[in-house]
Amino acid sequence: MKQITRAADLQSAVKQAKEQNLEIGLVPTMGALHEGHLSLIERALKENDMVVVSLFVNPIQFNNKEDLEKYPRTIDADLKLIESLIARIECRAKELLAFTPSVEEMYPQGEPKEVYHFGPIEEVMEGPRRPGHFSGVAVVVRRLFDLAQPKRAYFGEKDYQQIAVIRSLLEQIKYPIELVPCPIVRADDGLALSSRNMRLSPAARAMAPAINATLEQAAEMAEYEEVDDVKEWVLDTLASYHEVNDCPDGLRFEPEYFEIVDAVTLQPIAEWANAEQNGAVGCIAVWLDGVRLIDIVKF
Ligand code: PAF
Repeated sequence: MKQITRAADLQSAVKQAKEQNLEIGLVPTMGALHEGHLSLIERALKENDMVVVSLFVNPIQFNNKEDLEKYPRTIDADLKLIESLIARIECRAKELLAFTPSVEEMYPQGEPKEVYHFGPIEEVMEGPRRPGHFSGVAVVVRRLFDLAQPKRAYFGEKDYQQIAVIRSLLEQIKYPIELVPCPIVRADDGLALSSRNMRLSPAARAMAPAINATLEQAAEMAEYEEVDDVKEWVLDTLASYHEVNDCPDGLRFEPEYFEIVDAVTLQPIAEWANAEQNGAVGCIAVWLDGVRLIDIVKF
């Protein structure tokens, strides 16, 4: 593994790799790596000749200053995790570049002016609640695409809407990059792994698996209940969780949204039959202990 902090150094390493016809895999991350990220990196290492992992907390995708400030930054531990992954797996890739630029290196001209639009895909769920977020993601991902020139790019399905946005970005900019969505990795108790989990108090961490448990029950209910009834049940179950369970320190779930959407268009469906072609996905955002957690369930 080699750590690179300068964009120019990444560009010259990529140029050399391209001259040897090496296939490059890109795993964009914001660091604070966990097993979910490692599963993306492992897959990239197995499917490509060279892998670029970016670790960059992208300020322009945060619409909440406090969230940006509190975002965990653990570069040294992240690099150790990548090293230990490489040591324990068989991989096709001969080289992994960990790209850890500063904000100034990534945005030398200051805050980028470009804005991306994604139409109906960004008008639901995260879109209206985090204005500018997806455009900020698109700006940094495009920059990473330009620098790393990957054949394949790996993204986790926990950020389900982000994958749809990146798919749309690739259509807009016409880059022939293969988007590889990777399944959510969960803790043994079902909680979707997330860098934000490390901000949960022990008591909140003990409660958090109820999110996935509720979604799993919702998937069973979908066999015989209408879409709206499943939606209402999920929101009510989590919102009233503290009334029926022993939750310490006044902890409670505050659901922000739960939508059942077409798996490709991301538009909310009114009936299961509306998603017959693409399938349906339930996407949730819930506050717990001052931390915003997201998760999905496929129906
Ligand atoms: O999913 C993330 O961690 C970020 O949104 C990404 C794709 C690395 C862009 O900053």
